[in-house]
Amino acid sequence: MCGIVGYTGRRKAAPILLDALSRLEYRGYDSAGLAVRDGEKLAEVVKATGKLIHLADKTDQGRALEGNCGIGHTRWATHGDPSLINAHPHVSGNCSGSGSGEVESEVVGVHNGIIENFAELKDKLLRHGYTFYSETDTEVLIKLVDYYYRKYKIGPVDAINRMMVRVRGSYALALMFRDYPGEIFAARKDSPMIIGTKDGETYLASDVPAILKYTREVYYIDNLQVARIAPGQVTFYDLNGDEVELPRTEITWDAAAAERGGFEHFMLKEIHEQPAAVRDTLNSLIRDGRIDLSASGLTEEELRAAEQIDIVACGSAWHVGMAAQYVIEGLAGLPVRVELASEFRYRQLPLNERTLVIVISQSGETADSLAALRVAKERGAKTLAIVNVIGSTIAREADHVLYTLAGPEIAVATTKAYSAQLVTADVLAVELASVRGMMDDARRDELLAELMTLPDKINRILEEKERLQWFSSKIANTHDIFFIGRGLDYAISLEGSLKMKEISYIHSEAYAAGELKHGTISLIENNTLVIGVLTQNDLYEKTLSNMMECKSRGAYLMGLTTNGHFSVEDSVNFTVYIPKTDGFFMASLAVIPLQLLAYYTSVNRGLDVDKPRNLAKSVTVE
Ligand code: M6R
Repeated sequence: MCGIVGYTGRRKAAPILLDALSRLEYRGYDSAGLAVRDGEKLAEVVKATGKLIHLADKTDQGRALEGNCGIGHTRWATHGDPSLINAHPHVSGNCSGSGSGEVESEVVGVHNGIIENFAELKDKLLRHGYTFYSETDTEVLIKLVDYYYRKYKIGPVDAINRMMVRVRGSYALALMFRDYPGEIFAARKDSPMIIGTKDGETYLASDVPAILKYTREVYYIDNLQVARIAPGQVTFYDLNGDEVELPRTEITWDAAAAERGGFEHFMLKEIHEQPAAVRDTLNSLIRDGRIDLSASGLTEEELRAAEQIDIVACGSAWHVGMAAQYVIEGLAGLPVRVELASEFRYRQLPLNERTLVIVISQSGETADSLAALRVAKERGAKTLAIVNVIGSTIAREADHVLYTLAGPEIAVATTKAYSAQLVTADVLAVELASVRGMMDDARRDELLAELMTLPDKINRILEEKERLQWFSSKIANTHDIFFIGRGLDYAISLEGSLKMKEISYIHSEAYAAGELKHGTISLIENNTLVIGVLTQNDLYEKTLSNMMECKSRGAYLMGLTTNGHFSVEDSVNFTVYIPKTDGFFMASLAVIPLQLLAYYTSVNRGLDVDKPRNLAKSVTVE
């Protein structure tokens, strides 16, 4: 959730750290801090609450801090409120006032994650004379490293290893030790961390976009490993303290893709990148008109052997699963369960080698999705990850991985990654149907050709965005919105509703249209906005009837339907038309106006679209 960066080299560290942090602000943004060290001198810490700009102002854009080695952090509060004293970096010694100033302590560090047994560890440290100035688990972690470092007079690598054996939870950690000027020590467990080198400089970050501008050659440090970082050098150690070799990976993402590129917000830019994200993803899965999943290693035999599919994910990725359920069941006739990862991991679902568990995740680091993947593997299921971030933990741990080619997604509200995941699931559904003999070649080819038309159709919807911009200004002061639909339209409603609430802060709910009458309809009053999704030919009249039931109780109606269903206009207050495609692929088109509606509503309400309150892009804690 929090963002971590580090740098050691020949240039001034603070401006580089601030620049890298600015690309991670989507991870957390309630406070930020830096610790920078000038040669042998003591490290200096500066912290600021609120957005990164306050830290940049406080340090004159980093120019006020001397030194070529440093670490930085943007925080998403878990333990302790978002105050200055709880902001990172934290130190192993005492700290007065705001926590900024020269660090006399042995160890200073930044951390992302949660330490589950922090209370027990804190008691232990209190018994050994340590005192605590903050409410954070990070301070406990750093003091524990300090305790081992001093007690056994061992070096940083062994002290960190001892800490890792003792601690339960997830963490990515970057530390500087007073006795090791110019060096940074990093470790991780279940929380991402990459290290890149170039031209005698070394960078460290919790996410690729932070350092993409500086280097594309990165190492993915593994769970329970330590990295010792010096200018232009990095050495990795395992839990025994033995040196290990890690492969270097080249990141192929375009650095410009992580910039706003003239758009007012990343979200708007990413909405407009959807035709390319969908096209690139489809092109990686369909070659010369044939589905080619060979890059994932998934074989036709494995697809034929599957008797049950479980799709596990969180948030919007779970909504992709909800849509995929209808498509896979409808095309391939296979039973599909869609589970929230946070629930799946604690259920006793029967799984076996004939269950294919598909984990969908943009970041590939979501803690619950990762835990669910591990549970699935332990219980003998085959696992497939649909992931956007190359080399992420879920991608590396799944038996098979299909990468979406959405490029870096910065806005907290996902758009292009969702769309890329949807078409990946669609292609998989067609392949399952095809290899299992549920579909003839002609139908398969027809569906693949239809999928290839989606990027242009998305473009056509984007060209009409002004209508949604206008409508959003009418609804900007609404208190409640209900998104309703049946079948695949229900799955689309779920995503439309989440998009709306997460960035506009308007209460919204998605309901299966037929379920409204069983309780929720009592919430409909004069002018409650009800958005009906009406893209499924066999179901739209039924949903329209449910909308009418709301209208007769005072609701204001918006209908989202396909070109051709012009009669919808006679029944609702505002209609949005989208191009036609095969019913199974409608989610790819219907979601676009709903993303735009959420975006413009958030803008109209004067909110921070890309960084909505309380949220973080990548949820690496449980
Ligand atoms: O990185 P993941 O796809 O695993 O993230 C899952 C959810 O946290 C994510 O989709 C979240 O719901 C987004 N904020 C939705 O816009």
